Amino acid sequence: MTTIGIIGAGHIGSQVARKAVELGYDVVISNSRGPETLAALVAELGPRARAATPAEAAAAGDFAVVTIPFRSLGSIPVEPLAGKIVIDTGNYYWKRDGHVSALDAGETTSSALVQEHLPTSKVAKGFNHIRYSEITTDGTPPGTPNRRALATASDYAEASELVTKLYDEFGFDTVDLGPLSESWRAEPGRPANVVRQNAADLSETLAKAPRTV
Ligand SMILES: NC(=O)c1ccc[n+]([C@@H]2O[C@H](COP(=O)([O-])OP(=O)(O)OC[C@H]3O[C@@H](n4cnc5c(N)ncnc54)[C@H](OP(=O)(O)O)[C@@H]3O)[C@@H](O)[C@H]2O)c1
Repeated sequence: MTTIGIIGAGHIGSQVARKAVELGYDVVISNSRGPETLAALVAELGPRARAATPAEAAAAGDFAVVTIPFRSLGSIPVEPLAGKIVIDTGNYYWKRDGHVSALDAGETTSSALVQEHLPTSKVAKGFNHIRYSEITTDGTPPGTPNRRALATASDYAEASELVTKLYDEFGFDTVDLGPLSESWRAEPGRPANVVRQNAADLSETLAKAPRTV
């Protein structure tokens, strides 16, 4: 049994949870307002799911998915995620999250800042350039012609490999961008954002992305 600790239960977190329980994962899901506010979602997800606090979800997970607004970065629990792979679905929108000058200037990436916040974890970018609804509807079996691909990036090969395996189970091929410093290529404002492409086409689109937008 593999348990995924999910921090954030909104559009993306709930969809990742739905697909994960369908695939046989156990999920422990959390939000900012408390587990009692997730009763309906957990009832829908069934016996493989329970709600918890973010720290409890982080502790319960063999790995974690962090899927919250970027502005909440500082509240991600550090110690319970130590040594674990953390998949960051987050995107930075200054209108929502407030200005971060290093991101505006293209000097770093939002996921690199998540990695800085979680220095003992292995952060990988994932599920950040697909519309939430399509996580459960757009996947197809391996080898399907024109199968949709999604990008990942990490400073740790084992984290990129985990995302690649999870993408495959969810029904997607992977384009590995390399380190987190390259993860901007798949962020909002760039041409790969929420575009349905196979791996070859997505690789080309990511390669052509402008650094600042
Ligand atoms: N929506 C998409 O299609 C999409 C696609 C790709 C990437 N993304 C990115 O993925 C991230 C999540 O997006 P979303 O659309 O799922 O957002 P959302 O629907 O607004 O949900 C955000 C979730 O995060 C929780 N949260 C906020 N602050 C928290 C904290 N400090 N600790 C624990 N949980 C906290 C919220 O809980 P409460 O409700 O209790 O506050 C809520 O469950 C964002 O960075 C977004 O830019 C979104």
